[in-house]
Amino acid sequence: MAFPASFIDELVARNPIEDVVGQYVSLKRSGANMFGLCPFHGEKTASFSVAPDKGIYYCFGCHKGGGVVNFMMEVEGLSYPDAVRSLAKRAGMEVPEDEQYQSRYRQQERLWALMKEAGRFFYQQLYAPAGAKCLEYVAGRGLSKSIVTRFGIGYAPDSWNALVDAMRKKGYTDKELRDADLVGEKNGRIYDRFRNRLMFPIFDVRGNVIGFGGRVLDDSKPKYLNSNETLIFNKRKNLFGLNFAKKTKQPYMILVEGNIDVVTLHQYGFDNAVASLGTSLTEEQVTLLSRYTEQVVLTYDGDEAGQRAAQRAIPMLEKSGIQVKVLRMKDAKDPDEFLHKFGADRFKLLLEDSANRVEYQLNAIRSKYDLRVDDEKIKFVQEAAELISTLDSSVKREVYGGRVAESAGISLDAMKLEVNKAFKRRMARERKRQEKIDLAPMQALQPKDRSIRYDNMKSAMAEEGIIAQVIREPALLDKTGMLRGEDFSVELLGRVFAQLQTRHKQGLEVSVAVLSELTAQEMSHITGICQKHQGPVNEDAFHDCVRIVLNEKQRSKVSSDDDLLALQKKLMESKGTKG
Ligand code: CTP
Ligand code: MN
Repeated sequence: MAFPASFIDELVARNPIEDVVGQYVSLKRSGANMFGLCPFHGEKTASFSVAPDKGIYYCFGCHKGGGVVNFMMEVEGLSYPDAVRSLAKRAGMEVPEDEQYQSRYRQQERLWALMKEAGRFFYQQLYAPAGAKCLEYVAGRGLSKSIVTRFGIGYAPDSWNALVDAMRKKGYTDKELRDADLVGEKNGRIYDRFRNRLMFPIFDVRGNVIGFGGRVLDDSKPKYLNSNETLIFNKRKNLFGLNFAKKTKQPYMILVEGNIDVVTLHQYGFDNAVASLGTSLTEEQVTLLSRYTEQVVLTYDGDEAGQRAAQRAIPMLEKSGIQVKVLRMKDAKDPDEFLHKFGADRFKLLLEDSANRVEYQLNAIRSKYDLRVDDEKIKFVQEAAELISTLDSSVKREVYGGRVAESAGISLDAMKLEVNKAFKRRMARERKRQEKIDLAPMQALQPKDRSIRYDNMKSAMAEEGIIAQVIREPALLDKTGMLRGEDFSVELLGRVFAQLQTRHKQGLEVSVAVLSELTAQEMSHITGICQKHQGPVNEDAFHDCVRIVLNEKQRSKVSSDDDLLALQKKLMESKGTKG
């Protein structure tokens, strides 16, 4: 995506990183850096750093980092050109038009428009004669007319070409229909993919229709047909209902399994319900949620699959700093059924009753054992102690320990002992893990990102030093002598060095934030290097680094020359014996 370098330089200069990041993260200054809670992974201590002087951010916890453009890409889920565009807008700058970018953006806009049209078409079909039986189904499921309108629920008629015809008439091409995954294709002819289904539009947070989930009107299979990934639809990164739920006044979100559960909950006034899109909860969805709420009430179906899904979701949400409660569904399989049976007030009681995750998990453990049998009682106590030993507050350990002791009929002291033992076991495990790491320092120095490997550790460390220092003090680039990017043992570091060198020669800004053509992982790696090497710039140390890189290069060349010589000799010898 070729924006002119001078434009990007100005864009970066006019969007100070601390201001842009500051819109998402509250930052506190500490020396040259600012720190806050990382917006990309949940955490309770601030390991997310911003270096205003270097124009970069870097998280010491999740190792994500980059310049201001990368930040916008990550935090808003934008493509590079879209991130540039939004920063340009923020700084009141005109974006130089770029062919490729324009065409991709236009393609996206066309797809958004097409999906919206398709949604409108399905909605109209619900009230057309063909939609009569679907409308009946909707009424049978207790959905009100106004909620149907609000969620844009519709009907895909039982036809192979109704949508195709309607969209062609609106000027959409077959390619666009294919790109939107609205059609199937056979013998070169496209046909409606969704037929005779109740259609739920899937919105992104901004309210664009990005996909559809289509439910059958009876018990046939598959129950749902969902849009596949497209240029505008990534199901891992979106949540059904979030475009509405993000406006809720409630301090928590209700996370459910089904589309219908979300719609019914909203109809009954619970405007904070969302669902993952027919997949199990993803890390991306958790991060997205954590941007809008600090507390989630898991309201998964009461069946075994639902409970298993809840057990899996709990640690994911908690890792993200979200407080988790778990609602236990009684006398109904899911929220949709519950609300129609018992109404909103009863559901409110369930919400109030919802257990925090410790209670929930303790209950789950208890239900596995028969406490009348001594053997099982012991296992119950041990497993519960294991869970309690993970709690970070002594008050909590005391409270829950007390409960377990009571239900197992043992003394509080015995329980405390058991929790301490579990704690020590865990610590020992942890220590072993740490020892393994300490025993393999080379391993520890390897980049966190598996795609970047350091083969010559000595040279790599010096190369890191060079990059970190020239970024702090670009004038050092005049003192690199004959050092070239090709001399670096780590391809990525050499590439970055060469880019910086060229920019410096051209009198352009030398900073990480303006580096181009790096992947997000590569960018994170480079910012990580800059944030780890914090000491003052020292010319002698710098020259040492340069010397090491050149020496190591020489050494590796010599040794491969040696190899060549040896090989040649061998060849000669073998020829000699033959001849
Ligand atoms: N789902 C899916 N494909 C299926 C079944 C389910 O994609 N074959 C997804 C849908 O997004 C659905 C969610 O998983 O909304 C939960 O499934 P389920 O509870 O079976 O569906 P509901 O939408 O709750 O429908 P209903 O209550 O009518 O059974
Ligand atoms: Mn359901």
